[in-house]
Amino acid sequence: MASTLETLKLEAEKVATKAHAPYSNFSVGAAVLSKIGQIYTGCNVENISSGLTVCAERNAIGRAVAEEGSSFEIVEIFVTNKNSEGKTVHCSPCGACRQVMAEFSKAETVVHYCGDSDLITTDMNALLPDSFTF
Ligand code: THU
Repeated sequence: MASTLETLKLEAEKVATKAHAPYSNFSVGAAVLSKIGQIYTGCNVENISSGLTVCAERNAIGRAVAEEGSSFEIVEIFVTNKNSEGKTVHCSPCGACRQVMAEFSKAETVVHYCGDSDLITTDMNALLPDSFTF
């Protein structure tokens, strides 16, 4: 049986093929495992008005919240990508995505993303330390 990591990787790779990325030619896929054991995926959706582009991570989270509601919690997330040459390159979640991920994460939520050659595995506390609260 496939491990959680393998499943998340496959799901993220699969959804990355659906990306709408005609401007950057950079396809991103994210797969999120929720606390109740569900997997949600999202890809980047670009727009000709570039500020309206939404990243893969935030689209996956949107799908998750639409299914589970406000109690949705991320246990683990895998983010992958393919550039215009079909290569997977180093790409960590952007600042906006880190903030939105933090909304539904614990400090120890596991985050996997692609490095130059290896997979990078870290956690939310490392990606967004001392995140905003009030
Ligand atoms: N992108 C993501 O989907 N996630 C990130 O965390 C960083 C950037 C997308 C947005 C845009 O469609 C493309 O990558 C190039 O910036």
